This record gives sequence, structure tokens and C-alpha cells, in this order.
Amino acid sequence: MPTNSQGTANARDPLSPPVPRRRFVEALLGGGFLATAVAFLYPVLHYLVPPKASDLGSDAVVAGRVSELKPNSGKIFRFGNRPGLLIRTSGGEYRAMSATCTHLSCTVQYRDDLRQVWCACHNGKYDLNGRNISGPPPRPLEDFEVQVRGDEIFARRRREA
Ligand code: FES
Repeated sequence: MPTNSQGTANARDPLSPPVPRRRFVEALLGGGFLATAVAFLYPVLHYLVPPKASDLGSDAVVAGRVSELKPNSGKIFRFGNRPGLLIRTSGGEYRAMSATCTHLSCTVQYRDDLRQVWCACHNGKYDLNGRNISGPPPRPLEDFEVQVRGDEIFARRRREA
């Protein structure tokens, strides 16, 4: 019966091929190293090659319903992967614009007490047409065209002429 280095008997069957322990451990370590490398590289590659923007497919979305907005109020809606802002003015008109602040991209909101669009991040203010009127925002908000069809209010990107 074969013995090991300490002189005790080995229980292994002498007819079976020797267990390639060293290769098994090497494969285990190699697999662990590979998994670690993938875990580090995947987020880096995902950052460097971002997925295609999903808001390129549609130029118009249902921004809200007539029945849900009272005069002098606003609501955030989703326009692709960006927020939009739908406002019903005190006079009952609808306005729609991007809700992404042109300063540092915070989401703006409608302030019924000011009757303005307000960015809470740095106190930026826009008028009801999305024009920047106070604070750090450098440009107006993107203005959307509004169409009311039945109870649905559509916001549509304006086409460049
Ligand atoms: S991000 Fe809106 S004012 Fe700075």
C-alpha cells in the first residue's frame, strides 16, 4: 500500500490515476482571478461605452390629463429617460418644458406661490415659458409644444426649421 511523506497509509485506490491537485488549485485560483478582473472591468467598460439613449424613439408623450391639473399647478412627467414639466397656468393655458435645470441638471419644479419654475439646488428661476430669469441657470429650459386631445395632454419636441 502506498504511503505518504509521514509514513501513514494512503487511502487512495492505487489503480486510479493520481489526483491532479496542483492543477485543480491552479484552475480554482485562475477562475477566481478572472472573476475578480471581470468584476472590476465590467463597470469601467459600462461607463466608457454607455447604453444607447432610450429617449430618441419618440418626439411626443402623454404628459398628463386635463382632469388631473387644476389652474396654477404643475406636474413632472417622463419624457424618454428625462423629466418634463407640465404646467397649467392661472389662466388655464398649458405649458410644457424640460424639467432638467440648465445649470447642473437638477430637476426643476413649478412653484404655485411664485408662479414660476424653480430649481431647489441653487435657487434658479425660470418664467412660465422656460426662460431663465434669476440665479445661476445659463440657458432657458427646452420648450415643448403642447396639444390637448380629449382628456390627454401631449408634449412634443419642437422641430428645428
Ligand atoms: S442646478 Fe438648478 S440652479 Fe443649479
